Amino acid sequence: MPQPVRVPLHTQPLGILGSLQAGRRDVLELIPEIATHAPILSGRTGKRWHMVMDPDALRRILRDKVEDYPKSDVTKLILGPAIGNSLFVAEGEAWLWQRRTAAPVFSHRNVAALAPVMSAAADRSSARIAAAVGRGVDVFAEMVTATFEVISDVTFSDGAGFDRDAVHRAIESYIGQTAKVSLLDIIGAPPWVPRPSRMFAGAAMRDMKRVADATITQRRSTGPKPVPDLLDLLLAGEDPASHRKMTTAELRDNLLTFIVAGHETTALTLSWALYLCAFDPDIQAQARAEAQAALGDRAATVADLAALPLTRRIVDEALRLYPPAAFLSRTARAADTLLGREVRAGDTVVLPIYALHRHHALWRDPDAFDPSRFADPKAIDRFAYLPFGDGPRICIGASFALQEAVIILATLLARFRFSRIPGKDPKPVMILTLRPEGGVWLRVDPANSE
Ligand code: HEM
Repeated sequence: MPQPVRVPLHTQPLGILGSLQAGRRDVLELIPEIATHAPILSGRTGKRWHMVMDPDALRRILRDKVEDYPKSDVTKLILGPAIGNSLFVAEGEAWLWQRRTAAPVFSHRNVAALAPVMSAAADRSSARIAAAVGRGVDVFAEMVTATFEVISDVTFSDGAGFDRDAVHRAIESYIGQTAKVSLLDIIGAPPWVPRPSRMFAGAAMRDMKRVADATITQRRSTGPKPVPDLLDLLLAGEDPASHRKMTTAELRDNLLTFIVAGHETTALTLSWALYLCAFDPDIQAQARAEAQAALGDRAATVADLAALPLTRRIVDEALRLYPPAAFLSRTARAADTLLGREVRAGDTVVLPIYALHRHHALWRDPDAFDPSRFADPKAIDRFAYLPFGDGPRICIGASFALQEAVIILATLLARFRFSRIPGKDPKPVMILTLRPEGGVWLRVDPANSE
């Protein structure tokens, strides 16, 4: 059976175990392959590290002993300058009150109410793609545009002097820099750790914060929009325990966090899902039939989601094969034992989600594209499938992202047929996020053309 593209393997004549003994550097280069067979790998590269692929151990790190495994120092070093001490990086009490304040913003009801913004973005994306019918399109670039429209419309849309393109450029260059952080940085080889001050001192980042602050101040005086957006909801929010509300700087850091954490990740999900549909034309045809039956010629809405189970499974499977957050990392705060290994305070613990999702002990035919795996989600071990993390630090925007991905994917599949362009398969590169180097180029034709 042909299989969709994957991060290239490093196969060695010595075989996996022999290669393991061949030295630390070789082990690092072998990680994508070896980690899909082993439950845990440990080593020392600058500092001690452990790489964990076992669901029970992951449950311990992310849920049962979450206090002992805070986000890694390198995560904070890299993200802090851009998004302050916001929800994504804060720890302890500083994290807890922000999470309590933001959680209701992402309630099912609020996320559903934001769906029209997603349907409108799907329509605009269709119009741009329609102009390229009969040719190749970089669907990654297109999905980045579409998801940025969504997230900017639900955060700073009517901001005073909101220059969508300028903000988009600043965010893109920031994400581009952040995505370059590799596994080697995470496991603590000091010379490779990028210098955040150099990366983010840019005028663009300063401008973006200024525009965001001005928008928040203005919204405080004009009051909420007729359909409250994320900014309105967060402005109205308060910590139910302490009744504390966010200051302008805290609101800004969290809204920028939503933009940074939520837009490229969703664009990656959609691009890989479209690639997988092009890879398997039969599944694409079934998903198209499903979407056309539910939608006719209008864009998908939140009311259609229940009628789009295959589209949802394709999204789930895309998140398994190409998880945008390819690695999570933590720094151990206390001594512990994981799968018989000694963990010392200060050790780096890496959670390689990419390898977990293709682990041979956890998934049947792990490299194959098979959305039917998700037909019964309860049959899947919760800690074997972690595209959004888990435990208290689970992605706050998961249902927002899934709703957006299904709405846009169903709308596009109902209207267009996507096919591979010979010699132009995407090249997944696993650094901090899993990105297609050079984009995802697909040929686009009208939906029902042969
Ligand atoms: C498919 C799209 C997305 C993926 C794959 C994704 C993935 C993740 C992952 C893996 C984490 C946990 C990180 C860790 O434990 O170290 C996370 C956290 C987070 N995500 Fe997402 N995310 C997505 C979309 C979004 C969206 C749309 C938003 C906001 C609108 C968002 C906001 C956040 C925030 C604020 C956190 C930190 C939560 C906390 O620590 O309390 N994400 N995301």
